Amino acid sequence: MTTPNLNYDQIASQYNQRYPNSQTWERGQALLELAKQAKSKTILEVGSGTGFWLNLLNQTGAALYGLDYSMGMIRQAMGQPAPLHLSRGLGTQLPYRSSAFDLIYCVDAIHHFGDHHAFIVEASRLLKPGGALAIIGHDPHEGGTNWYIYDYFDTVYDTDLRRYPAGSSVLQWMEQEGFQNTSSQTVEHIRNIHVGEAVLKDPFLKHNATSQLALLDETSYHAGMERIHQALADAKEKNERVIFPSEINVKMFLGFKKEKE
Ligand SMILES: C[S@@+](CC[C@H](N)C(=O)[O-])C[C@H]1O[C@@H](n2cnc3c(N)ncnc32)[C@H](O)[C@@H]1O
Repeated sequence: MTTPNLNYDQIASQYNQRYPNSQTWERGQALLELAKQAKSKTILEVGSGTGFWLNLLNQTGAALYGLDYSMGMIRQAMGQPAPLHLSRGLGTQLPYRSSAFDLIYCVDAIHHFGDHHAFIVEASRLLKPGGALAIIGHDPHEGGTNWYIYDYFDTVYDTDLRRYPAGSSVLQWMEQEGFQNTSSQTVEHIRNIHVGEAVLKDPFLKHNATSQLALLDETSYHAGMERIHQALADAKEKNERVIFPSEINVKMFLGFKKEKE
């Protein structure tokens, strides 16, 4: 059994900082619409983290299940107001009986599962006929991402290309496993621009805020920070301002388990 090489236990208590109350999350709305449209009575999130999305889905009245590898993240999820059935495990070996769920989804998590196809095989086993599988996250293989983290920190982009499955492969695997009506759509456009020194306050620039930077050792992280400070200093000398964009398309890859014949 391969275990994740990134320890979410260490960041669990600060993780929800990325979800300020002031913001409406379009990917959450897409998930909510899907759950309602599919009249889901049982829902499973794989890589459920702190339970933020499961809690949002509580308004559907469905029974909500979450599985995560990190005990620290599960403990945070236990504090959500919604009643959640939480388990610890791996995305590639899901400890549930077959045909148990109407909707299975993951958000920003499939790139952690190692064997992406194995997750889709498991999801197919666990879905009821007609049930939906939604894989939500960004696809670095596709154009449209313009994230300064990729420009200033060596190896991060190449590592992401290795960790994330291409959307086209996800759809292909779904079809191989008998999913129908597969589709992909953009469900959220993240568009943040930090100008000049304001970038230093970007919460996603902290070493442990995202897996992209958390996977870097101290030396590589500091080398990237040094590049950012240098760019700021060079711009100041020329009386210019550096723009640090975070433009990311969040996609949803969707498929439906074949109805019984
Ligand atoms: C970026 S977080 C996303 C959490 C949540 N889905 C969200 O969107 O807020 C990724 C989550 O995947 C979990 N994870 C990492 N490897 C995993 C694995 N092999 N199986 C299940 N969960 C895993 C981590 O512990 C973490 O909670």
